[in-house]
This record gives sequence, structure tokens and C-alpha cells, in this order.
Amino acid sequence: MQIGVLDSGIGGLNVLASLIKHRCGEKYLYLADTRNLPYGDKSREELREIALAGVRKLIEAGANLLVLGCNTLSISALDYLRKRVELPLFGLSPRPELLSGKSLMMVTPATALSLPRIEPNVSLLTPARLASLIESDYPNQRRIKEYLTPLLLPYADCESLYLGCSHYLYAKETIRSLLPRAKMQDGCDRLAALVRAVLPPSQPKSAEVDF
Ligand code: DGL
Repeated sequence: MQIGVLDSGIGGLNVLASLIKHRCGEKYLYLADTRNLPYGDKSREELREIALAGVRKLIEAGANLLVLGCNTLSISALDYLRKRVELPLFGLSPRPELLSGKSLMMVTPATALSLPRIEPNVSLLTPARLASLIESDYPNQRRIKEYLTPLLLPYADCESLYLGCSHYLYAKETIRSLLPRAKMQDGCDRLAALVRAVLPPSQPKSAEVDF
């Protein structure tokens, strides 16, 4: 079993780390599609084409189970891909229903357009530049913090936060310093558990990743 993971850059590495932690496989292929970064400013049609091309590349390279390590691609293209690709296919999906109390959901602009209705206690923030900023600056947080400080100020008392883009996990500590009360969630471990559940019970002892 070779598991292929796709994202626009380093964001999906957080998903890859969860897959390895959950011992989903011994061999992984990771495609960082930086040519199309950021996914968050693309239309649904563009994202579907990008997703299909990326997944095909991973299949050609030997992947036989596919994971979209990206909320933006998953919400826009997962159903579309399932009609066109025979292999098992999983994706990171934003889950506003996990939030309670005064809540905030951070997603890319493209994800926001495809989200189902969210409850009135949940505010939606679409920091359009954040994924690209993380891609260029991580691990340095200075410009990331400068960008996020005014955006997060109105939510300083938020209790629950969903990071609905795999890139945003690289800004977790900065976000924590700006929203100290917020319990943070993301979908990486849940996705890895879903993948693990369809795999044979044998547990791989090591993991090898080709980029
Ligand atoms: N990491 C991706 C996500 O989870 C997309 C970031 C981007 O390229 O805009 O949505």
C-alpha cells in the first residue's frame, strides 16, 4: 500500500504526520503542488482540475490510496474525484459542528464559499494571505503575527477555534498567543483514524516518504 498525499505546499505535511502517527502505512508519496499555491483563491472549477491532475500524478507515481491533505480541495473536489478515480480517496474536511460556545472557524476564501450553513455562535474568518505567508515565512512568525493580530483582535474572547486549513497549523502558537482562551481543533487526526479504519490490521513498523 502506497499512500499519496496532496496539498498546495507544506500544509498537508500535518496530515502526513497524523497518517504516520496512526500507522496507516509504510510508504507515502507527498505532492506539494506549490505551482498552484494558494488554492484558497481559486474557483471550484479550477480546484477540481487541480485536484484531478494532482491525484493522477500520484497514481502514476504508484499511489493506491489517496488523501487530500487540504480542506480547500476536499470541500470543492472530493465528490467530483470520487466519480473519476477508482482508488480509495479521503479528504480533510472542515467540521463546524465540533465547535461550542463563542467560536471561530478559520478557512480559506474558497472553502468559505462551499461551507454548509454554520450555527450563529460560529464566526467565519478567511485570512486570504495566510497560507502563502506561512509557505514563504515559516518557521519565522513575525510577519504572520503582524498579519493575524488585527484580524483576530475582534475574537479575543473566543472559546473554540477550528483551523480549517492545514497550513494554519503552522501558526498555532501565534494564534494561541492572540486567542488564549480558545480550544483549538483541526481534522488531521480524525482523517488519519478514518484512513486507518479501512486498512488491514497489520501495523507498519517504519515509514518512508517520497516527495
Ligand atoms: N492547505 C490548504 C487547506 O487546507 C490550502 C491552502 C491554500 O493553498 O490556500 O485548505
